[in-house]
Amino acid sequence: MRDRLLAAEKVTAIDWRDGALYLLDQRALPFEQRWLAYTDAVGVAEAIRTMVVRGAPAIGISAAYGLVLALRQRLADGDDWEMALEEDFELLGEARPTAVNLFWALNRMRERLLRIKAGDDVLAIMLAEAEAIHESDREANLTMAQLGAELIRRHQGSEQAILTHCNAGALATGGFGTALGVIRAAYLEGMVERVYVAETRPWLQGSRLTAWELAGEGVPVTIGVDSAAAHLMKTKGITWVIVGADRITANGDVVSKIGTYQLAVNAMHHGVRFMVVAPSSSIDLNLASGEEVMLEERDVSELLEVGGERVGAGVEAFNPVFDVTPADLIDVIVTEKGIVERPDAAKMAQLMCRKRLH
Ligand code: MRU
Repeated sequence: MRDRLLAAEKVTAIDWRDGALYLLDQRALPFEQRWLAYTDAVGVAEAIRTMVVRGAPAIGISAAYGLVLALRQRLADGDDWEMALEEDFELLGEARPTAVNLFWALNRMRERLLRIKAGDDVLAIMLAEAEAIHESDREANLTMAQLGAELIRRHQGSEQAILTHCNAGALATGGFGTALGVIRAAYLEGMVERVYVAETRPWLQGSRLTAWELAGEGVPVTIGVDSAAAHLMKTKGITWVIVGADRITANGDVVSKIGTYQLAVNAMHHGVRFMVVAPSSSIDLNLASGEEVMLEERDVSELLEVGGERVGAGVEAFNPVFDVTPADLIDVIVTEKGIVERPDAAKMAQLMCRKRLH
């Protein structure tokens, strides 16, 4: 299975080459495949903030490379580079608030930095650490894809109609995706009849990114408006909702793209199974529940402008871009350390003590 998955891999969004970070500009997709080059941390932080790169694991990987770029600059500037680098940690850490992978990756870079000894080639070591973060996310995708596909086989077998939301694919990760990794694996195993993709207002990650990734591989895709979810579940034989996560708290609550929560409520009502796929770098045991997560709100112009024209004069808009799905609406969380069915705090803590499966 692993080899078939690797052979099917088509899209990458993050590339480190010739001392620069290249990001596939996700704002231009699917109309144009435009790569942008970054040579400093300021640029990388801006790329994360403005969603050139997006998706929890991809943000973390980009921040790790951003720190390498910062380090190179600080070393060239001379003197107290360690102190100066703190500003770069801060800058990158402030780029987006919700996906814990960003802070996880920066913490891992900091831990490696603290183990540097006199005489070490600090730049080479820190680049190797960023590359290891990138590679381990790719491996995690492969493991999760196989575990998730196995669950689909065990619980429902062939001819599945799957509903997904936002983009949790190759564009959002260092490999071929979390939720989309599972969907891809299940498709390769002949278990998927059709994938329904919620368009994901207001950024349209579903219709612009997920549908593009899947259609490029010949997977049958149908796009629906976000508000069609309940109707789709009732009329199209949806068997699974499969989504990614930006943060999973200690009790198993899942923070993901706005609209995920209503999918879980609808799934429970219609007897549709609900799977969350995320690497352990998305799990945050420091927060007891989703209530403690700071959820990003983006500019209201995303809602108050249509085709460049202002609508709703005299009204306000509310534009949270993530929501919290309570653990008790989730059938299973799939990670590279294993799966957790009907998540709760004890099961999540146990999972985090396990080793990765690859
Ligand atoms: O605002 P975005 O596009 O960065 O949001 C991304 C998501 O919500 C994804 O569902 C998430 O990161 C899943 S992880 C692959």
